[in-house]
Amino acid sequence: MKEHNSTYNIGNAALGFRTEVERLKVQALMGWDKEFRNLKWYGLQNGMSVLELGSGPSYVTEQLVNSLPESQITALEIDRTLLDEAKNRLQHIPSSKLRFVNSSVYDTGLPDHSYDFAIARLLFLHLHNPVEAAREIYRILKPGGKLVIIDIDDGIFGAVSPNINLLPSVLQKLADHQASKGGNRYIGRELPRLLAKAGYIDIDMDTVLQHSDLHGIEGFKRQFDINRFKVFYDNGIINEEEFEQLKQASENINNSPEAYAMMTFIMACGKKPEHY
Ligand SMILES: C[S@@+](CC[C@H](N)C(=O)[O-])C[C@H]1O[C@@H](n2cnc3c(N)ncnc32)[C@H](O)[C@@H]1O
Repeated sequence: MKEHNSTYNIGNAALGFRTEVERLKVQALMGWDKEFRNLKWYGLQNGMSVLELGSGPSYVTEQLVNSLPESQITALEIDRTLLDEAKNRLQHIPSSKLRFVNSSVYDTGLPDHSYDFAIARLLFLHLHNPVEAAREIYRILKPGGKLVIIDIDDGIFGAVSPNINLLPSVLQKLADHQASKGGNRYIGRELPRLLAKAGYIDIDMDTVLQHSDLHGIEGFKRQFDINRFKVFYDNGIINEEEFEQLKQASENINNSPEAYAMMTFIMACGKKPEHY
């Protein structure tokens, strides 16, 4: 079995496989229109060969296939169960348009200079060695090809209303915990340097905001599902007061029409030079 060398393994998901897939689904679909708008702005075009890394259950892949009808899309995912789930759901799409690769972002097994555009969404925060992964993507991009990393930075996580005043301390503790396992929930701010270190040029970045008033509250219910946080309370990573405030936020989002939530995503882009 391949080593993930990352902090995401759906086999350990607190919500269990099915609910976690559903969480990823709503989160991917909520942001898609805005993310696609930015992807096009960074140069993504119909007809390009596109690689999505850490594609998970492939809800983003599906949007890419639908939005880029003349493109060939490759979805690369390390986890067999997620890959099989995606393959089953998308089996109606011909292999000339969509192919699945079961490998790691660190060692994709894909040929040099073969993609116009690569996208990694919510993968890099989990990687033990993000620069090594960015270098491997650089190798398989065509000269002039682009990598877009879509990720988070918990320093600018977003907001919930009604506010919970312990949210910053909870986020800090969860980030510290993830860092102790080799991930980075503050990766957003690192992305320009990370891309530069891996050899990319013309680096740019921007944010995408998801707001429940724009995208509906459903996706945020999943984000604030209290079962995602219970494990941190049970393991002593967050304290009782913090857990109680999270419960309150979860209840507000589930039951109060007054409640809203907003989350920030970072999109950073780098180009492989034409001549390198
Ligand atoms: C948080 S999920 C995001 C899934 C999808 N990109 C999305 O936005 O819905 C992270 C994904 O990265 C995959 N992953 C983790 N380590 C990986 C590695 N070393 N190589 C490739 N994929 C990996 C996980 O299995 C998981 O599917």
